Amino acid sequence: MAKHTVVVTMPGDGIGNQVLPEALRLLRAVEFDAEYIHADIGWNCWCREGNALPQRTIDLLAEHKLALFGAITSKPKREAEAELRPELKGKGFSYFSPIVTLRQRFNLDTCIRPCISFPGNPLNFIRKRTDGNLDEPFVNVVVFRQNTEGLYAGIEWTNPPEQVCAALATHPKFKPFSIVPGPDLAISVRVITRRAARKICKAAFDWAKKHGYKSVTICEKPNVLRETSGMMEDEARFVARDYPGIALWSTNIDAQTMWLTKNPEDYGVVVASNLFGDVISDAFAGLVGGLGFAASGNIGDEVAVFEPTHGSAPKYSELDPPIVNPIAMFLSAVMMLEHIGEVEKAGRVREAIAAVVEEGKVRTYDMMRLSGGARAISQGAASTVEMTNAVLRQLKSHRELVGAGPHREYG
Ligand code: NAI
Ligand code: MG
Repeated sequence: MAKHTVVVTMPGDGIGNQVLPEALRLLRAVEFDAEYIHADIGWNCWCREGNALPQRTIDLLAEHKLALFGAITSKPKREAEAELRPELKGKGFSYFSPIVTLRQRFNLDTCIRPCISFPGNPLNFIRKRTDGNLDEPFVNVVVFRQNTEGLYAGIEWTNPPEQVCAALATHPKFKPFSIVPGPDLAISVRVITRRAARKICKAAFDWAKKHGYKSVTICEKPNVLRETSGMMEDEARFVARDYPGIALWSTNIDAQTMWLTKNPEDYGVVVASNLFGDVISDAFAGLVGGLGFAASGNIGDEVAVFEPTHGSAPKYSELDPPIVNPIAMFLSAVMMLEHIGEVEKAGRVREAIAAVVEEGKVRTYDMMRLSGGARAISQGAASTVEMTNAVLRQLKSHRELVGAGPHREYG
């Protein structure tokens, strides 16, 4: 009996509303037999209701546990208050990022960000050899980012309360800061728990084992952040003992960022705490096409939310036809399919995307290195919808080729 899958769809703001419906066209084309339920999230919810993540959306996620998310707009505190509906102003509403809230509310503590080159992508990283020739190394990296702790835990103050200062004063290194007036003092706390550190490291090693990666790199800064990065690294070492065939490498975030372009093909799975994982996944994504190609999964014990890394790109959100690259959203949908075990369907969509990229006939403005805007289409760029159509054509011709026989599994 076919299982009944419900996907909560949260397009959000701006281009989220353009790319998410396109991903649904692909999912339907591979006959992913699911029901899609729309849920509200983002800026409009904030302006109308004083809450960017309404309780009804939380309830839908709690019930159905699987979601595709587009992108949201967020703005600084003062602008957020100014755009609130007049009746809600001054009523104590304050803006919280719905994404951070989602991660914390459902403990979506494992963030997976694959950064894998598509052959033929004109945006792939190119390296100059000493003989002057060019190399295009195949990048096949998957970043595991701890998603709920670290510097993004949200424990911070400007003008910290007296008790906080008193507690910090017990540390000898706080002395020079203790004379700074409160309003001139901002503090963000970096919290790492052993449990979460172990869990993200284990998730990274499990992925490496399942997908045949030879190494896991822990990317931290334990020589300076001795306690927090130190704990991450200790746990990586502890976990590594259970995976004898997989090498544990250790790099510092700053050096890793600098050397990223030297030998990106050497890296496999990379694991890091929240901020460092955010940084290093963007850096690797830049080698394989940037925001138009960067997908991610936020995985908790029960709930999983898949989303492109990019935001709502407001400057392009009103263009007709839309011009942004939907591939990052497509790859997020592929990750969702893989997560729920639909690997054959996931493989078909991924192969169709790969074929379109390799063929190179249909390219969105970013893939042509155009500056974007309404002119992009007249300059030869494909629209968002044309990109989807190209992937759909590939799916169809693949289907005609393969007929009703079994499809190739995607490893
Ligand atoms: P952004 O990712 O929305 O856009 C930055 C630039 O990247 C765009 O102007 C565009 O040139 C390019 N770009 C983004 N997505 C693309 C795509 N699919 N295809 C081709 N080009 C693409 O980041 P920005 O401008 O810093 O933020 C805009 C809004 O999005 C802000 O309100 C920000 O807070 C929010 N944001 C939301 C995120 C999320 O929902 N996960 C993540 C990042 C930003
Ligand atoms: Mg980021």
